[in-house]
Amino acid sequence: METVIEEVTTRIYRLSTYISDADFSFNQYLIAAEQPLLFHCGMRGLFPLISHAVAKVIPVARLRWLSFGHWEADESGSMNEWLTAASQAQVAVGTVGCMLSVNDLAMRPPQPLTDGDVLDLGGKHVRYLATPHVPHCWDAGVLFEETTQTLFCGDLFTQIGKSPALSTADLIGPAMAAEDQFGATALTPQTAATIRRLATRHPKQLALMHGPVYHGEFENALQQLADCYAVRLQRVQSYPDSTSAYFHTGDRSSAL
Ligand SMILES: [Fe+2]
Ligand SMILES: [Fe+2]
Repeated sequence: METVIEEVTTRIYRLSTYISDADFSFNQYLIAAEQPLLFHCGMRGLFPLISHAVAKVIPVARLRWLSFGHWEADESGSMNEWLTAASQAQVAVGTVGCMLSVNDLAMRPPQPLTDGDVLDLGGKHVRYLATPHVPHCWDAGVLFEETTQTLFCGDLFTQIGKSPALSTADLIGPAMAAEDQFGATALTPQTAATIRRLATRHPKQLALMHGPVYHGEFENALQQLADCYAVRLQRVQSYPDSTSAYFHTGDRSSAL
């Protein structure tokens, strides 16, 4: 097993570890600005591999910020290992995440972010966008790097399997296939609206946590993803006693 690190746009690096037993990839993103930021810490067991890969670009001790989309092992598991390795580093996540988990569990106080807050990293700036319960967890949020218009969309558009660093392949089909398998998204009346709100940022790059980085125009893809969840919610509401309306919905058209 190895963590592969590749530059996906100027001074932004994708670190990817494929776990064959699970047929699943876990990514982190390093924004190598004056104040370097790592988005997603990764699981504790992967810390040696991931930190070794980061060190190919910057000394780990230079990390200034750690951030993650929500509190789960693959997003936040090795938080304190990073805080130990980088004495200047601080966790920057949403106020809900601080309140629920980070204030208590991080070895140093975090920097709480409210929706729309910007961290100036020096040469790059990231805006925090709160997405409660989207795709899951109350503390959910994403980061938007404004100089490259890169949306670090976390678990949105999650794909199964091993993926290249960059892709132009279909986003929706693989995301719905993974949704059929995992049922990882919290279907609520706000799910589609929250995803549509991300589309208004007009991202030109999508950086998936479990999948590749895409370059292009993604307003439509985000609207389509929102449509898929709106239809799934409607289906669940129509058949409240059956999970079959949600899981294993077959080909892509019926999966909508
Ligand atoms: Fe997650
Ligand atoms: Fe994840």
